[in-house]
Amino acid sequence: MKIIVTERIAEEGLQVLRAEGFDLDVRYGISHQELLDIISDYDAIIVRSVTKVNRELIERGVKLKVVGRAGNGIDNIDVDACTEKGIVVVNTPESNTMAAGELAIAMACALFRNLTRASAACRARDFRRNQYLGRELDGKTVGIIGLGRIGSIVARKLIGHNMKAIAYDPYITDDKFTRLGVEKCATLDELLRRADLVTIHTPKTAETIGMVGERELALCRKGVYVVNAARGGLVNEAALVAALRSGHVAGAGIDVLDPEPGYDKPPEEQTYQNPLLELDNVIVTPHLGASTEEANYNVGTAITRLVADALQGKIVAAVNMPPLKSGDLELLKPYITLAEMLGRIYYQVEKETVEKVEIVYSGDLADKETKVLSLSVLKGLLYPVVKETVNYVNAELIAKGMGIGLVESRSSHLDKYTNLITVRFHAKSRMREISGTVFAREELRIVDFFGYKLDFEPRPNVIAIQNVDQPGTIGRIGTLLGRHGINIAAMQWSRKGEKAVSFVSVDDEVSDAVLKELVATEGVLKATMIKL
Ligand code: NAD
Ligand code: MLT
Repeated sequence: MKIIVTERIAEEGLQVLRAEGFDLDVRYGISHQELLDIISDYDAIIVRSVTKVNRELIERGVKLKVVGRAGNGIDNIDVDACTEKGIVVVNTPESNTMAAGELAIAMACALFRNLTRASAACRARDFRRNQYLGRELDGKTVGIIGLGRIGSIVARKLIGHNMKAIAYDPYITDDKFTRLGVEKCATLDELLRRADLVTIHTPKTAETIGMVGERELALCRKGVYVVNAARGGLVNEAALVAALRSGHVAGAGIDVLDPEPGYDKPPEEQTYQNPLLELDNVIVTPHLGASTEEANYNVGTAITRLVADALQGKIVAAVNMPPLKSGDLELLKPYITLAEMLGRIYYQVEKETVEKVEIVYSGDLADKETKVLSLSVLKGLLYPVVKETVNYVNAELIAKGMGIGLVESRSSHLDKYTNLITVRFHAKSRMREISGTVFAREELRIVDFFGYKLDFEPRPNVIAIQNVDQPGTIGRIGTLLGRHGINIAAMQWSRKGEKAVSFVSVDDEVSDAVLKELVATEGVLKATMIKL
């Protein structure tokens, strides 16, 4: 499988992919047009923040299965377009937060003490130090916009500098503010009016673009410092330039410009213009937030591992999948397999269109994060219908498009089993129910098939046979299969009234002709091949 890497990541990460036999194409700095022209060759693309993985690229990437974002923000990726195509989007949100937080703090320190200006002056042999009277962080107020992963690191460290930390983040709990020792601002305006240093750590969303503009800068204290190491465009650059020129804002630390320049071009080829680059009270860095040895290694090795796993069909914590803690993923793996099998059975034995899938999680599963299991049921259900185009990422979307509703419920009570997944397939004329359980952590069993009680270990090839419950039928089935050289690996039957079902595991898929012969056998009512 072919992977294109369009932005610089750690060599150790690339090694992960080479070692696993992937065909790697490292094309740092490739233009968007060039990428559009060749993307149809690749199964996966790994990018950082500059490559625009937009709808057009996704449409042209006919083989794409995985988009790897080496880093955190996903504002350069059209996640909806990926989800519609079943493309898994993975990122590494935890791997560079320390690096980004420390850069914001480094910028604050440098701004408060005029470090970059003083250093540039010294190089020009201007040592008049009285021009660079700085201010101390100690005792000042830092206003943090966005108290997520990076905002929290900044808060923790600046509180260590004896700053008073206030923050505006309407989406996190009061408890988190209390734990961090940060005072909550009810409004952004309140934060702006009180802070000596404003530092922004929100994602780039429709709500946050330009959230600090002319009006907001005017609300700030005269002499405020502004740091943006999050995303270009969160602070309106034109308004910031005006405020810096007037001196209302004393200085700014900008790691992320809007738009961003190309980071791989040598200066002689660079045509990038931005008035912020002309101001000496601004520190501009080329999106260096994640550029530490530690973050580079963490991000590079984490993203390539995720991309490799996703390409190999493993379930990974993806941006367009329900959130899962890594421990939970391990625990849920056998249930994921079971859930998909339960889903797969229906359309292989029934033809009536499913209108609603109802899933009941019981026993140990009642308090688990089960969304990924429900997606597995849907993936299994839809597989016989849409084949490889369905995966964990798009299963719910495809089901919705087909008018199939999904209802989940939980029950902590179970008599016989410690855990049970029951799937009810509601069609117009009737409801069909299949249940399965996992015991000893990895032993899967189907225990209820359309009302027939079983204890059946699912295997890849199963013949489901419905027959009348009379002596000799099982023998005739065995003889017929034997006559065709079909080896029976396991067999289970269950009776209900005058009928019975037999689940026969065979080594290989059996032909339609054999199934027809089975149905023609005395006592057999129906015979269906189920691929699990
Ligand atoms: P996060 O998701 O952990 O935290 C973001 C916080 O912003 C959340 O708590 C959220 O509630 C809050 N938020 C969202 N909308 C808001 C709004 N309108 N007003 C106030 N708060 C709002 O993200 P993170 O990992 O801390 O990353 C923060 C930013 O830093 C992102 O933009 C990310 O892309 C960027 N980043 C930049 C670099 C770099 O190299 N400069 C490196 C890593 C991350
Ligand atoms: C990120 O979102 O992780 C950062 O912006 C770092 C990067 O993309 O280089």
